[in-house]
Amino acid sequence: MRSRRERPIQSAGDPARGAVAPCSDRSALEMAEEQPRLGGPSVAGRPGRRAPAARSVLARTAGYRPEARGPRDAVARRRVSQSSRAALLLLLVPLLVGCRQDMHDQPKYEPLEVSNFFGDGRTSRDPVSGTVARGQLRDNDHLYRGIGPDGQLATTMPVPMSSELLGRGRERFDIFCSPCHGRIGNGQGMIVRRGFKQPESFHQNRLREVPVGYFFEIMTNGFGQMSGYASQVPVGDRWAIAAYVRALQLSRNISVAELTPADLKMLEAREGAQPAEPPSEEGHE
Ligand code: HEC
Repeated sequence: MRSRRERPIQSAGDPARGAVAPCSDRSALEMAEEQPRLGGPSVAGRPGRRAPAARSVLARTAGYRPEARGPRDAVARRRVSQSSRAALLLLLVPLLVGCRQDMHDQPKYEPLEVSNFFGDGRTSRDPVSGTVARGQLRDNDHLYRGIGPDGQLATTMPVPMSSELLGRGRERFDIFCSPCHGRIGNGQGMIVRRGFKQPESFHQNRLREVPVGYFFEIMTNGFGQMSGYASQVPVGDRWAIAAYVRALQLSRNISVAELTPADLKMLEAREGAQPAEPPSEEGHE
């Protein structure tokens, strides 16, 4: 879009706008203020109505009194009078056409307005190719594309891991992924049970061994019949979900040796309290 300030260049040929250009608002104002002193009827804010006042001023300043002089004098005075009258009228022309531009009526283009200035008739201009909006450069491939420094899918998370991140990932996964993938990631969500193509379970070796960037990439761009979620799930949440998918996988496949003593204690306490139950898959009925 072109700003209003640039417009006078384009509208230089426009008679209504062009006439405004030579006079400044200040001089118009000063002339308007002078008027009452000169004895004309003052019509505030209406330049067009000042003509009678101007005429009486002309009569006085020119001293046009033909009956008091000889005929030659009268002719000469009439000429002087006529030329000064013309000069004054010229001065008044800017007033008549209005050295006035209200703020609510500035020359401007509305968005998507037709323009005769550009060949394609559009006011709105395309940004110069390669333009990047501030803060939208996204030059961090790891974070925005799930690509590591070697150009392959990233094997590490670009954001620090935390239990808050996993909690967020679980919440987002349950909202955006579980309808198809199921809340435990076995591919038996409600939409699948109603006939949508069944995705493969996340609990298989092939998907346990893919880099974490794989999940991010598929959430971003989609995969086969699954559409991408970039427009619905922001970058940070996509990584949180990827981390949670990893946690889901670990929940079904981790060796006791990999557990910390604290984890083991917690597990034993739970097993002693009640028989372990598989996590429920319901919740979307
Ligand atoms: C509307 C149902 C649906 C939703 C919602 C959905 N997916 Fe999928 N997903 C699928 C289907 C179907 C496939 C298999 C696509 C194919 O093979 O054509 C798939 C495939 C995948 C794969 C590839 C698995 C493989 O076999 O390599 C991953 C990873 C995945 N989805 C993750 C997610 C994540 C994470 C979310 C949530 C952000 C999600 N999906 C949401 C239906 C869905």
